[in-house]
Amino acid sequence: TRHLLGIKDLNRSDIELIFETADNFKTVLNRPIKKVPSLRDVTIANVFFENSTRTRLSFELAEKRLSADVINFAASSSSVSKGETLIDTVNNILAMKVDMVVMRHPYAGAGIFLSKHVKAQIVNAGDGAHEHPTQALLDAFSIRERFGGDIAGKKVVIVGDILHSRVALSNILCLKQLGAEVMVCGPTTLIPKYIGSLGVKVEHNLRKALNWCDVANMLRIQLERQDIKYFPSLREYTMLYGLNKQILDSLDKEITVMHPGPINRGVEITSDVADSKQSIILEQVENGVAIRMAVLYLLAGQQS
Ligand code: CP
Repeated sequence: TRHLLGIKDLNRSDIELIFETADNFKTVLNRPIKKVPSLRDVTIANVFFENSTRTRLSFELAEKRLSADVINFAASSSSVSKGETLIDTVNNILAMKVDMVVMRHPYAGAGIFLSKHVKAQIVNAGDGAHEHPTQALLDAFSIRERFGGDIAGKKVVIVGDILHSRVALSNILCLKQLGAEVMVCGPTTLIPKYIGSLGVKVEHNLRKALNWCDVANMLRIQLERQDIKYFPSLREYTMLYGLNKQILDSLDKEITVMHPGPINRGVEITSDVADSKQSIILEQVENGVAIRMAVLYLLAGQQS
């Protein structure tokens, strides 16, 4: 595939190839000289219509480690504020001889739309509540690393706001491709009706879900995507679905805790859990650079 628009376009061997490529780049990133010439003369635009810390910076770093030329575009400081359209914006960037566009956008399907209307390779860096493919890849890669290489048969629970989460959908698709068992846990108001069709278990009781799993991925409440007043309230949510040290220590086994970030400390996860040795939150961020290097490197080989 020329683009990376979603995990739904990848099969198991595509994902395994990305992981093997990321293994090599992770070795490179641990060397004193972290830069390789692989994408010399490739120009990449990071086009962000929505805020980001981890995704934007790790794409930029991945591109620079691969020796690509990089330009960064933030919609908030651009001529989008004067009414310029998405297609005009991107076509103007492409006129400057840009090869690849990494785009984050608040609307689901924005990357798919763009890929049909412009002549560039598109990498989806998060489109509304739809997909966040590189996040799912770095999450699965981090689980694989934590468990010494195999994800098949591992039990992963995704806790929280599944309804508004692109991370949840991409994680479910990726983990299922790799043979993991996946459960979602949260209040009924935040679990979409179609979830059963994805082959995942549903559990509304946090303690039961945590006692079932090997890995718990704790999601943030996506307040920016809530069009109705949030139910339950944040305080109720924390009481029912917040992970704290007391719960963690009372479980039958030592589970691994993940979070895609940004964390709302004290809401979905307490600091003593986020910063504990059971948490791999910063390993996820570290792996994000190697995964994005792998994705960009493999896509560059598909240029036509
Ligand atoms: N996990 C993630 O996408 O974080 P950012 O929104 O900071 O990029």
